[in-house]
Amino acid sequence: MAIGAAFASIAVVAGLGIVAWIAYEPALPEIARPSPSSFDRGLVAKGEQLATVGDCIVCHTAPNGAPFAGARALPTPFGILFSNNITPDEKTGIGSWSLAAFSRAMRQGVARDGSHLYPALPYEHFTHVNDGDLAAIYAFLMTRQPVSREAPENQLLPGLGFRPLLAGWKLLFLRQTQFERQANESAEWNRGKYLVDGLAHCGGCHTPRNLAGGEERGREFAGGVAEGWNAPALDETNPSAAIWNVDSLFAYLKTGSDRGHSAAGGPMVPVAEGLSRLNDADVRAIAVYVDSQMHPLRETNLPAVTVVATNDSRSAAAAAHPEADLLFEGACSGCHAPRAPMNINDRPLLSSASDLRADDPRNAVQTLLQGIAPPGGKGAYMPSFSNTMTDRQLADLLAYARARFTDKPAWPDLEAVVGDIRKENAE
Ligand code: HEC
Ligand code: HEC
Ligand code: HEC
Repeated sequence: MAIGAAFASIAVVAGLGIVAWIAYEPALPEIARPSPSSFDRGLVAKGEQLATVGDCIVCHTAPNGAPFAGARALPTPFGILFSNNITPDEKTGIGSWSLAAFSRAMRQGVARDGSHLYPALPYEHFTHVNDGDLAAIYAFLMTRQPVSREAPENQLLPGLGFRPLLAGWKLLFLRQTQFERQANESAEWNRGKYLVDGLAHCGGCHTPRNLAGGEERGREFAGGVAEGWNAPALDETNPSAAIWNVDSLFAYLKTGSDRGHSAAGGPMVPVAEGLSRLNDADVRAIAVYVDSQMHPLRETNLPAVTVVATNDSRSAAAAAHPEADLLFEGACSGCHAPRAPMNINDRPLLSSASDLRADDPRNAVQTLLQGIAPPGGKGAYMPSFSNTMTDRQLADLLAYARARFTDKPAWPDLEAVVGDIRKENAE
């Protein structure tokens, strides 16, 4: 017995030793904050574009807070995380971080002091960013105004606040590979893939995650969830794949709307807002790459094929949903009927709306509950109907719109779904 117990405790100690060995990362030395004038202007400008692709400002700015000063609450299935201050303040920001410390955080998710960072900082993707691009982002951040602001304590489920555990998570899910050019694809396609897989971290939302919060390998772009919305599949299983092409993807990514098919809602809005400030060539490269994922059999970057969906079975839909037909006339058709007075050029034909064609009604429900606020306040706008309609009215309207404008089967239990999503939004 005694010997067995001794062996067991040796095993435990050895096991803990291995964990500590895997988890251990040294602190990197503090540096004096580099003078902003020590950075090349061109490098800073390049870094600004790249930081835009990486949405750094989205996660690292609190509502009404100074840009990059952190303290934005990010809800995750494991609790609430707060982003850090990444302005060059020496005490509360990254002013004393060397480029090596910054690059280690971005690639390996380890802070300057050696502690492990949560993958809410999307280092599963940032790990693929090359040295030159990291140096440019570093130069951009180090030339911002330092702001003194401490992030609040994270509010995680019991036990998950213990950072060394993250070393195990990384062992399972972090693949630190460098981007490899594919010689049989165009330079534009390769640029798009580099941005999408790395800085733009599109898979962070559009790839499904396992129970431990890691992205499921082999199911890249099969569709995921983000902040109460579905992030639709961006591969051939996208329900509207046939309607998307390079041009419409470009317009959607650059302006938040492709005028006629889909408008970015929910967490896709800040993504489009970031991309609206990115140069056209890079946005187009992203569109080319996404298009190739949606249409694996089509040659990359074929001239755009315009597909105009004109499905409109009004009389059948009205017979099945007479009240919704009236509601639609009053509340929706001013913007959504063809040639309606407010249907000025860029209003959608609902017969090609992605949200109405999806298998899951979630995004259509969110669109009605939250409305559409275009990136930067310019462009397509739709009011929220959350306060003006009951769950039953919204469900009836959506059932009607699905029947009238698409050839897809009716969504089940809509009223309950609307009620549940409304409750989630209020939490
Ligand atoms: C999806 C949200 C998200 C995005 C996008 C994001 N970050 Fe973060 N970042 C976080 C969170 C959350 C933390 C804190 C993680 C923790 O506490 O372990 C963090 C931490 C960091 C840290 C470590 C700071 C410290 O003091 O330990 C750095 C550096 C950083 N981010 C830089 C960036 C840069 C640069 C970009 C853009 C290229 C970026 N982040 C984009 C969420 C994000
Ligand atoms: C923070 C999460 C998040 C990130 C990051 C993100 N998306 Fe999205 N995306 C969404 C959500 C949610 C929707 C659904 C929006 C809606 O229905 O209005 C969406 C919708 C889309 C659509 C429309 C799909 C359709 O059929 O309607 C495209 C295309 C798209 N995203 C591309 C991208 C690309 C490319 C990137 C990277 C540059 C990206 N997304 C990054 C969350 C995200
Ligand atoms: C003030 C004008 C306006 C009104 C009123 C309005 N909408 Fe919209 N709606 C829009 C705009 C703009 C879009 C974005 C389309 C785009 O740019 O691609 C949109 C998009 C949609 C979408 C598709 C979203 C997507 O990305 O797939 C649905 C579904 C929708 N509206 C339903 C309705 C219903 C139902 C009503 C009535 C309850 C309504 N709308 C009232 C302007 C309006």
